[in-house]
Amino acid sequence: MSTVTIQQSMRQYAEATPELKYTFFGGKGGVGKTVLAGAAAVAFAQMGKRTLLASTNPVHSLSGMLDQDVFGAETPVEGVSNLWAYEIDTKDTIERSKVEIREKIDYFLKFAEIRGRADEFIEAATMNPAFEESAMFENMIDIMFEDKYDLYVFDTAPTANARRLLGMSSVYSLWVNKMMESRQEAQQLRIRLSYSKKTEEEKDPLMDYLLNFQDRMANAKKLLTDPAKTAFFFVTLPEALPIAVVRRFINWFHEFGIPVGGVVVNMVIDKEGIHKDADEFVLNRVAMQDGYMEEIEKQFDSLIRGVLPLFETEIRGVEMLKRTAALLCA
Ligand SMILES: Nc1ncnc2c1ncn2[C@@H]1O[C@H](COP(=O)(O)OP(=O)(O)O)[C@@H](O)[C@H]1O
Ligand SMILES: [Mg+2]
Repeated sequence: MSTVTIQQSMRQYAEATPELKYTFFGGKGGVGKTVLAGAAAVAFAQMGKRTLLASTNPVHSLSGMLDQDVFGAETPVEGVSNLWAYEIDTKDTIERSKVEIREKIDYFLKFAEIRGRADEFIEAATMNPAFEESAMFENMIDIMFEDKYDLYVFDTAPTANARRLLGMSSVYSLWVNKMMESRQEAQQLRIRLSYSKKTEEEKDPLMDYLLNFQDRMANAKKLLTDPAKTAFFFVTLPEALPIAVVRRFINWFHEFGIPVGGVVVNMVIDKEGIHKDADEFVLNRVAMQDGYMEEIEKQFDSLIRGVLPLFETEIRGVEMLKRTAALLCA
């Protein structure tokens, strides 16, 4: 196999970061994020950590990869002790989020004494393209805060990239601050306009919600930027585009202060298995790969945590994931 020097393997990283709790896998679509998240989860479980492999990805992928139904509930993975998997039901999450928003808007309209139909407001709020994403983000945070496992492995979606997911927590707190300011103004106005003093002591559930929300976001941000607890891993192939994508992600993450756990190189063709008078197509691919492996070493250097070969078939089922985990943690 084309080789790169691995200064700190995945296993060594895990050992050097004993409090590691939240891990994520990012990279371009199709590079093997789900597979790597699965293999890492198996490896962590085998290290004795009670591990949850969760997918916030709207594409049904974990059940397919594990070859067992883990949709909609935290399910023990057959054949691997200490491992649970959970493919989050996107539709259900979004529906629940809509119901919550409706309650809040209804309350707000009543509070502000606006007679009107909440439906329009709800439509405006939930038509926002960021709505689904933030619903999924909140769901992820709920899972993190439940704190039922030693270690969480999140298989993140390729398009709704993880950076945006995290960037959102800063946007959220800006938004919440703004909301709270106008709540306070409104409250004061009410008190001034009111003849009785009782308004002052009136409970404000919307304010309570906002405070609670802000607290949750601040907490999430604290966890997600703590290098002792959190690590984002990136998957690349020995190809130009995936390398560029990972480079960009890493730069962004550094900018946001989000801990980067390292890079895994996937689908590397085993050179030893290739005869020198093999097909020209194959020889070309291998020569190209050598060039990109050099590039990967130059670009990512001490961040490289592992190299995985291109298998003869797709990676499916627990047995094959175990094989992958063993190679990842060799
Ligand atoms: N090292 C590998 N060898 C062979 N097939 C692989 C390898 N890594 C991933 N695959 C296959 O490639 C496809 C894409 O992998 P997947 O993990 O779903 O990518 P992503 O989650 O990044 O979109 C899947 O069919 C998977 O089984
Ligand atoms: Mg995937």
